[in-house]
Amino acid sequence: MVEKRRIAVITSGGDASGMNATIRAVTRYAIYKELEVYGFYEGYKGLIGNSFKVLDLSLVGGIIDRGGTFLYSARSERFRCSDGQKEAIESLKKNKIEGLIVIGGDGSFKGAHDLHKRGIQVVGIPATIDNDIPGTDYSIGFDSALNVIIDLISKIRDTAYSHDRIFVIEVMGRNSGLIAINTGLACGADFILVPERKVDLISIANDIKENRKDKRHTLIVVAEGAARASEVASSIKLLVGREVRISVLGHIQRGGSPSALDRILAAEFGRKAVDLLLANESDCMVGIKAMKIITRKFEDIFEMNKEIDQELFDLAHILST
Ligand code: F6P
Repeated sequence: MVEKRRIAVITSGGDASGMNATIRAVTRYAIYKELEVYGFYEGYKGLIGNSFKVLDLSLVGGIIDRGGTFLYSARSERFRCSDGQKEAIESLKKNKIEGLIVIGGDGSFKGAHDLHKRGIQVVGIPATIDNDIPGTDYSIGFDSALNVIIDLISKIRDTAYSHDRIFVIEVMGRNSGLIAINTGLACGADFILVPERKVDLISIANDIKENRKDKRHTLIVVAEGAARASEVASSIKLLVGREVRISVLGHIQRGGSPSALDRILAAEFGRKAVDLLLANESDCMVGIKAMKIITRKFEDIFEMNKEIDQELFDLAHILST
């Protein structure tokens, strides 16, 4: 019997809704292309420890709509050092694996790039709710997180207008304001605070006092990397002299069933990543630009910064006044 060629897949970094749908797409498309698929547990940690499961059609059944990742995820300190990387490569070689698909964020892609430099064929699939990976308009998990957050903010708005309150809502985004801008725009937030722009609480307080006296609800959406909700709330309370409540959404934003967009991206990214391995491509990520599936070299995206869309940011403010 002719031995089938083998590839491996891992999920790495913070989990994102749609990772399971992506593992399913990679596995089923690779099997369709007559490959064998090894799913390693807990990202690079599982590669180092040679902890895996051979995936088949039924094992990836019933996971398309599940949040999290059934291959589990981790951030491996050991993989950052040369010994860890050598152990990961040993596992791949021992199992005769020819190519690796890494589903994760840009930190995970740096690890993939290191493996490429050591002779391993690697392709990345962007997955992070922060959507902060340059070179792609969307990462798996971003759209699902936006939908979760929008639903939660709408509920907070019910209380805000019933009680004539100012609410500060803290969303995720350690280094990026993309979640805050997109959810703020979609929820009609009055103010959006992001790490990429200076936070000016005095001007926000003046705006609330002068222009929003008659508004029964004022919503301030703050990215965690811009300021903490509690700090924003105490300053605004002091400056405006009104009741302020806070809501820190936390990890609730990362869980839940993936949105339609994330499931469709999972299918398209999964197929493209397998096709790239079959074409002997390496050291690159798949992505989507202007609704077209594209490929980008890791080194190019490491050089780039993902900027916030200033026009969208301004529009959110214009529409809320
Ligand atoms: O997935 C990215 C992210 O959501 C960041 O916005 C956030 O700061 C971080 O994960 C927190 O994740 P953890 O608690 O897993 O370190």
